[in-house]
Amino acid sequence: MIFRQLFESETSTYTYLLGCPITHRALLIDPVASEVETYTTLLDQLGLTLFYTLETHVHADHITGSGLLKERLGSHSIVHQGAGTLCPDLLVSDGVRLQMGSIEWHVLHTPGHTQSCVSYLFNDRVFTGDALLIGGCGRTDFQQGDPGQLFDSIHQKLFTLPPETLVYPGHDYQGLTVSSIRQEIQKNNRLGPDVDRNTFIQLMNHLDLPLPRHIHAAVPANLACGKVDVTP
Ligand code: FE2
Repeated sequence: MIFRQLFESETSTYTYLLGCPITHRALLIDPVASEVETYTTLLDQLGLTLFYTLETHVHADHITGSGLLKERLGSHSIVHQGAGTLCPDLLVSDGVRLQMGSIEWHVLHTPGHTQSCVSYLFNDRVFTGDALLIGGCGRTDFQQGDPGQLFDSIHQKLFTLPPETLVYPGHDYQGLTVSSIRQEIQKNNRLGPDVDRNTFIQLMNHLDLPLPRHIHAAVPANLACGKVDVTP
């Protein structure tokens, strides 16, 4: 499998490119609108055709590139059925198995950061969006976030994966790139072995974080697949 981890520095967002070496088809997980040119150049360099874009959730901090990529390259957008986006090509739900050439993956519904958060499990690696971050997790104080639900999603859907499964998050603010399920079970500051469900809920309800800078523009734009003219 061809694999690249890409970083958008303004919002510390990771985008992932996965490509099939047999069919030369590629997918992008959580593409960012401002980076479409970079993706197009990289796909050309690798000799790949973009077939799918996968959203882990409706983002509050950046605009998705899925709409622009669909217009430009004819890719198909995959989102969870509860996301409420206006122009998906394929709606998915928990347990769905998808395939693109030699690449196969499963959809894990992991709500709590938002109601429609999903993680994508590709054999030895899982892309967790903003549900599970390296050493942390997504916030739960807007977009119908629910800390109890996030705790259950992480413990029941992610921490039950094989411990050696690699964890690739939607963001990292310290420059960390990859973790593993074992590492997160043992070392995650918010979810480690000593943190029970009630403690986690209390912690998440008192983070008192400022809202993301672009939330009022980003959420409506993302509900329209990013094809809205937004000046931050
Ligand atoms: Fe998010």
